[in-house]
Amino acid sequence: MCSLAHGLENGLITARIADASDIGVIEEAARTIRRGGVVAFPTETVYGLGASVADALAVAKIFEVKARPRIDPIIVHVASLELARLYGDFPSIAQSLMERFWPGPLTLIVPKKPSVPPIVTAGLDTVAIRIPSHPAALALIRASGCGIAAPSANPFGFVSPTEAQHVAEQLGDKLELILDGGPCAIGVESTILSLVSNPPCVLRSGGTTIEELESILGRLETAVGATKRPQAPGQLARHYATRTRLEIAEEGSDESRSDERLGLLSLLPPSLPHQYAALEVLSPLGDLREAAANLFGALHRLDRLALDRIIARPVREEGLGIAIMDRLRRCAANKT
Ligand code: TXA
Ligand code: MG
Repeated sequence: MCSLAHGLENGLITARIADASDIGVIEEAARTIRRGGVVAFPTETVYGLGASVADALAVAKIFEVKARPRIDPIIVHVASLELARLYGDFPSIAQSLMERFWPGPLTLIVPKKPSVPPIVTAGLDTVAIRIPSHPAALALIRASGCGIAAPSANPFGFVSPTEAQHVAEQLGDKLELILDGGPCAIGVESTILSLVSNPPCVLRSGGTTIEELESILGRLETAVGATKRPQAPGQLARHYATRTRLEIAEEGSDESRSDERLGLLSLLPPSLPHQYAALEVLSPLGDLREAAANLFGALHRLDRLALDRIIARPVREEGLGIAIMDRLRRCAANKT
């Protein structure tokens, strides 16, 4: 198990959770961003921890709040193609992708423009850019008048937040303002596609499915497997970790010992529900989109129960099932 001091354990939640549909709240958050502060805000994928792209000191605060290694570059969130072009140099192949998938859960890696400070890209000459589709994220970017650099709003390596409350529990002692835009509709992070490599290469599976991308680009290279020297730390084997040990096991292979409190994370209702101290069914009808939207919330709930182990049932690896299995495998790699 990893230990990490965070808000809930310390009982020190100082952050204010404010309704992101209130325009006054968006304006207040934008003022905070403009004067160099950090704000947690909703996107359609997961909650982000945002600061002005151009403000290197503000971006440094993000690394501090998340305890994130400085070698891990941050995605730039924009609200228009015009703003995207201010930060990145988009090859012609990007056009059809931006038209089809933006706003939405696709991040493109392209050569960076000098307007992006090195701290954002961890010194790389490429930059990750996306237009999120959550109305509050778009409103915040527009009101701030600049791109917003934002990683997921969780301590580095831990489960991403899909509700404002998750942010409060994990980082609520280190933030002033958390915008509450409700539960995230997609629930897993954006897909990351590098347009720097030729042919384009998927660096992280996510909310835009590989099948959707391949319908435009043809067969794609993927580098989403864990590597020792990842291009993106999202590729690290251990990531998205619960504090409780998680194992992936098919039904029938995890005979519980009577002294153990087990939690089960399953796509469908299990045939023997009573052997588990806690049960999370991701989608009673087996819908992978619904399952992705429920995944991190279910992990957060199970992780609060001081269980001995969480057993996760594998899901079929198609559509959003690819991103779900990717997150579960990295969470399971957290064994000590
Ligand atoms: O859905 C999302 O993408 C969420 C929301 C908030 O937009 N953001 C998110 O950020 O997941 P983060 O920092 O947790 O994950 C971004 C990943 C990291 O693994 C980082 O290494 C990778 O993107 N990344 C950023 N810039 C990159 C670059 N220039 N080249 C390769 N990977 C990059
Ligand atoms: Mg993250």
